Amino acid sequence: MATIELYEAMRTLRAVRRLRPDPIPDDVLRRILEAATWAPSGGNRQPWRVIVVKDPVRKQRLGELYRKVAVPFLHSYAEQLVALPEGERIKREKMLRSGLYLAEHLGEAPVLCVFCFHPDGLAVTDAKLDRVSVVGGGSIYPAVQNLLLACRAEGLGCVLTTLLCMVEPEVREVLAIPQPWGTAAVVPIGYPQLRGHGPISRRPVEEMAFVDSWGQPFA
Ligand SMILES: Cc1cc2nc3c(=O)[nH]c(=O)nc-3n(C[C@H](O)[C@H](O)[C@H](O)COP(=O)(O)O)c2cc1C
Repeated sequence: MATIELYEAMRTLRAVRRLRPDPIPDDVLRRILEAATWAPSGGNRQPWRVIVVKDPVRKQRLGELYRKVAVPFLHSYAEQLVALPEGERIKREKMLRSGLYLAEHLGEAPVLCVFCFHPDGLAVTDAKLDRVSVVGGGSIYPAVQNLLLACRAEGLGCVLTTLLCMVEPEVREVLAIPQPWGTAAVVPIGYPQLRGHGPISRRPVEEMAFVDSWGQPFA
């Protein structure tokens, strides 16, 4: 079994969108799926299932749907970049190019993992607040992250995507997902075309973390 030091895996788990079509062995797939099952969820209800899509026809249909939503989304994102300072703009343009590549090629990945959730199993403790609810996702996305980290350990490229949620009724039809299950994420997985995982760019702890009360710098 592949192993990698945990902090090293987290530090180098970047979005890998250029994937080779080569198949992924079933034992490797099983390991990354098992890692997903190890994730915590509210009340340990595990209100998610994952569909491992390998069938070329279904992948192609998901790829077409993804292109339909991703291309206009990314073009409007591109328009917003012109106003940014040069350094930031260059970084985001790189992400945009890789996003556009995925928009054209999602269906060619050897595997698409479609994460579904059951709304009744989510412990939505913030449902009644007068703001957008986020807690429900906490019973699903840790499983997705575990899968991504396991891919990193196995040398597989991957990226968490959510754009297909915009066309959930069509995705439901392609994969025969019954009501009331919904879709939370689609993760294309494959061996990387280029270097794959590597350094990431994130805000420093000093900006992200406070001590004792909001705004108190962590030092
Ligand atoms: C909730 C969420 C939704 C995302 N949706 C998409 C998506 O639909 N398509 C895509 O190409 N990347 C998507 N991403 C990937 C992000 O763009 C990526 O994680 C971020 O830009 C950081 O990239 P890096 O890890 O390579 O630095 C998503 C990531 C998250 C966490």
